[in-house]
Amino acid sequence: MGMRIVSTGSYLPQKVLTNADLEKMVETSDEWIRTRTGVSERRIAAPEEAASDLGIRAGRLALKRANFPPEKIDAVITATITGDYHFPSTACIIQEGLGAGNAFAFDLSAACSGFLYGLVCSRGLILSGQCRNVLLIATETMSRVTDYTDRGTCVLLGDGAGAVLLSADEKDAVLGSYLASNGSYTDLLFMPAGGGRQPASRETVEKRLHFMKMEGQALFKVAVQSMVEAARKALERANVSSEEISLVIPHQANLRIIQAVVKNLSLPMEKVFLNIQNYGNMSAASVAVGLDEAVTSGQVKAGDLALLFTFGAGLTWAAMVIRL
Ligand code: UT7
Repeated sequence: MGMRIVSTGSYLPQKVLTNADLEKMVETSDEWIRTRTGVSERRIAAPEEAASDLGIRAGRLALKRANFPPEKIDAVITATITGDYHFPSTACIIQEGLGAGNAFAFDLSAACSGFLYGLVCSRGLILSGQCRNVLLIATETMSRVTDYTDRGTCVLLGDGAGAVLLSADEKDAVLGSYLASNGSYTDLLFMPAGGGRQPASRETVEKRLHFMKMEGQALFKVAVQSMVEAARKALERANVSSEEISLVIPHQANLRIIQAVVKNLSLPMEKVFLNIQNYGNMSAASVAVGLDEAVTSGQVKAGDLALLFTFGAGLTWAAMVIRL
C-alpha cells in the first residue's frame, strides 16, 4: 500500500507588488532586494481574499485536473499560519467551499514546513486505512502579517496557494522523508501578539506586534544547516543518491540560502526549481506551488525523482524524496 500524487493545482492572487513599489514604501532598492534575496516581485491577496479563497481555487484546480468528485475526498488538510480565523479551521471553510461534504477537515501549523508535514500526515492517514483520498492544501496570506514599514521582512513575503490530491495506491510516491523541529528558537521568527500569550489590545497594535518579527541573519545560518541535514536524511532513507534526483524543489525563502544548501549537497543549480523571483516566500505554499508549476511546466515528468526541502518558524524543517 502506498500514496499516489493524483494531481496538483495552485492559485496566485492577481495583484503584483514589485521591488519598485517597495522602493516607494521603505528605504530599499531593487538592486539590494534582487542580489540579497532573489525576489523581484510577489503576489498580494485582494482585500476580500482570505487564505481559504486562495486554497479553494488551488484545490478546485487539482480536482478538475483529475476529474475527481469532491464528495470522494475523505480528508481536507490545510497547511497555513495565516488562516481566515483563529477558529474555526481554514480547512473547514475550504471543505465547504469545495463541496467536500464527506471529508473531515483540519489545519496544520508548521509554518514554511507545513506542506511537507502535511504530505507525511496525509500518507499516514492513507497507509493506516483511515482515508483513501486526501486533499492537501497549503495556503498563505503572508501580506496580512507583514509589516510594510519593516524592510527586513516586507521585501521577502508573498501570498499564494498550492494543492495536491493524494490517493491510496499500490505504488508509493514517497520514497523517504524526514521531519524535525526545535522549539528553542521560537523568537527568531514569530508573531508576538494576537494569540493567548498577548491578546490583541491597543498597546499590541501600537507596538506593531501583530506582524511577523524575524532575526534574518541568525535564521540564515540555521536554515542552511537544517535543510542540508534534512535533505541528506531523506535521501538516505529513500536510498537514493543526489545524482538520481531530476529536480530539487526547495522552500523559496532566499536565493542565497537555496544556493548554499544545493552547493553543500553537490547538486547543480540547473536541477533546482525556482519561483522566488516571481512570488517571494509564501511560507507553506512555496513548495506546494513549486511542485504544481514544476509538474505543469514539464520540469518533472512521471517516473522522475524530486527532492523537496523546507525550513521555517518553530523552528521546523523537513525534506522528502518523491517519485512522480
Ligand atoms: O521562511 C524561512 C525563514 N526565513 C528565512 O530563512 C530568512 C533568512 N534570512 C534572510 O533571508 C536574510 O538574512 C535577509 C534577506 C532577511 C537579510 O539579508 P542579509 O544579507 O542577512 O542582510 P543583513 O540582515 O545582514 O543586513 C545587511 C544590511 C544591513 O545594513 P547595515 O547594518 O549593514 O548598514 C541592513 O540594515 O542590509 C540592510 N538591509 C536592507 N537594505 C536595503 C536589510 N534589509 C534591507 C532592505 N533593503 N530591504
